[in-house]
Amino acid sequence: LGTVGAAGATGLALGAAGGAAGHAVLGDGDGGGPALATVGSARVPFRGAHQAGIVQPAQARGHLVAFDLAPGAGRKEAVALMRRWSAAAEPLMAGEPAGSADSGVAGDAGPCSLTITFGFGASFFDRTGLVARRPQQLEPLPVFSSDQLDPKRSGGDLWVQVGADDALVAFHALRTLQREAGAAARVRWQMNGFNRSPGATAHPRTARNLMGQIDGTGNPKPTDPGFDGHVFVAPGGAQPWMTGGSYAVVRRIRMLLDDWEKLRLKDQEAVIGRRKSDGAPLTGGTETTEPDLDKLGPDDRPVIPADAHARISAPEQNGGATMLRRPFSYHDGIGPDGTPDAGLLFVCWQADPRKGFVPVQRKLDRGDALSPFIRHESSALFAVPGGPADGEYVGQRLLE
Ligand code: HEM
Repeated sequence: LGTVGAAGATGLALGAAGGAAGHAVLGDGDGGGPALATVGSARVPFRGAHQAGIVQPAQARGHLVAFDLAPGAGRKEAVALMRRWSAAAEPLMAGEPAGSADSGVAGDAGPCSLTITFGFGASFFDRTGLVARRPQQLEPLPVFSSDQLDPKRSGGDLWVQVGADDALVAFHALRTLQREAGAAARVRWQMNGFNRSPGATAHPRTARNLMGQIDGTGNPKPTDPGFDGHVFVAPGGAQPWMTGGSYAVVRRIRMLLDDWEKLRLKDQEAVIGRRKSDGAPLTGGTETTEPDLDKLGPDDRPVIPADAHARISAPEQNGGATMLRRPFSYHDGIGPDGTPDAGLLFVCWQADPRKGFVPVQRKLDRGDALSPFIRHESSALFAVPGGPADGEYVGQRLLE
């Protein structure tokens, strides 16, 4: 393996090196020291048609935080908060201190692909008197029969997603935003996640999850012709302020790893319908070969089982329902029952959750082969507006 962050080894989950746009190699100016490795210098722009943190590869560290507006806070306080958060996020994503009171935690680090993404939950519109601007796409997700949701770790007026390829950079951004919330909003829940570090593997294919599977293969690619239509809200919709935005479904999905790890490899592969080693479909080829869903084995049964997770969730099986999955893994130690409190901070992005997540989860909820090994423990849905134009703060087109 090359050095950490060697170019080309960035483990891109989403294919194109979108997140590496505008690399600025910092660090060799002041003390004449060496330039930062690619991992440190990779910088994602704060402004643009879409917010950052959607199409860029998921970083090594992630924090998902929901806030509720404080009692008595309304639209005025929300405007001031989004202004403060935007004013902090822009320099942070550029690898610069967030004002004179910066804590210095990320002082000698580059941007490390930091992205900060902001969203609004359905309750935000009640709190700010903006019910007329609440998109229909934010209607509550249906109750699924297998849900075991903790309301305290679900929902929220506001959502912040932080991702960076360095743990200190991610913490620094998270802490800065929490502090900037001031008296206007309080943390409702926080979840911390991770992915493989750039440079950790000589095979920079799709990431693995904590079950050991290659996860993300079937994702739409930013270069696919229909990608934008599936993921981003097109102009001309009922809520013009959401143009260029997207809807994020967030589910904390516990993996029942003790049970999963007892399965033989062959059975684990049948649960998904793909090989564990390289993610290829059980019908053969490589990770990127199309699965042959009709192929029968010598026993006359489908080679990819009828209840295999990847068969049931595939767009072709769901009237084209498409979402961009961009999860983080999480591990919060051992639960009271002695099993690992670990799994997936499942985040998926789509132009309309009623046409992406909902139909697919309805079908999975009827009991795909993966269901006995996972448990949905919390749920949230956020409207993530388009990226800020020059001079704008995030959410300005909604709030003003
Ligand atoms: C595919 C794992 C939950 C939707 C896959 C694959 C794996 C996987 C290993 C095959 C590789 C790939 O295409 O990415 C998991 C695990 C989950 C989980 C471990 C929970 C802990 C969900 C949920 C949804 C979902 C909740 C949506 C409701 C999909 C979709 C595909 C997929 C759309 C791609 C299917 C295709 O295009 O072939 N998942 N998944 N998954 N999963 Fe999941």
